[in-house]
Amino acid sequence: MKINIDNIIKDDNPLIRERSLPVELPLSVEDKSLMEDMISYVKRSTDEELAEKENLRPAVGISAIQVGQAKQMLYVLINDEEGNPFFECALVNPKVLSTSVEKAYLGTGEGCLSVPIDHPGYVYRSRKIKVKAYDYLSDQEVEIKCSGYPAIVLQHELDHLKGILYYDYIDENNPYPVDKDAYCIE
Ligand code: NI
Repeated sequence: MKINIDNIIKDDNPLIRERSLPVELPLSVEDKSLMEDMISYVKRSTDEELAEKENLRPAVGISAIQVGQAKQMLYVLINDEEGNPFFECALVNPKVLSTSVEKAYLGTGEGCLSVPIDHPGYVYRSRKIKVKAYDYLSDQEVEIKCSGYPAIVLQHELDHLKGILYYDYIDENNPYPVDKDAYCIE
């Protein structure tokens, strides 16, 4: 299946709140193909020409539940300013090993392929995270340690596996609470 913005489920679909289940390893042919479709979406979405032609909303990450599959699978790709991959992982059955007490947040707020209407506000997350998972790209169990922007994106995708959306953390009446100790990512 070629993923595009039309077959990504939105937050009005109750499936988006479903908890994703562990995936059997080694991956089945279907699950491999699902991961390839997710990888392909994110890669195509960051190519300006393709994104416009195929009506893709740019993304740095996607999880399987966003195409209606309650499977613990996610993909993240963050490019540097030259457009080269800076952080990339395709995780299956990720487990969080540790998170820092220190928080970080995106100064411009978060966005999500499954959330068509922007919800302004700060989402405070751990500045650092350590995750264990099977990585489809390297075909092995990995331990990933990251901080700053990749850590924020990874936590956003991990939340999808639990049915959590970024705006669940935003209080409409106080969308920009101040946390002086938190690190702001521009
Ligand atoms: Ni999302």
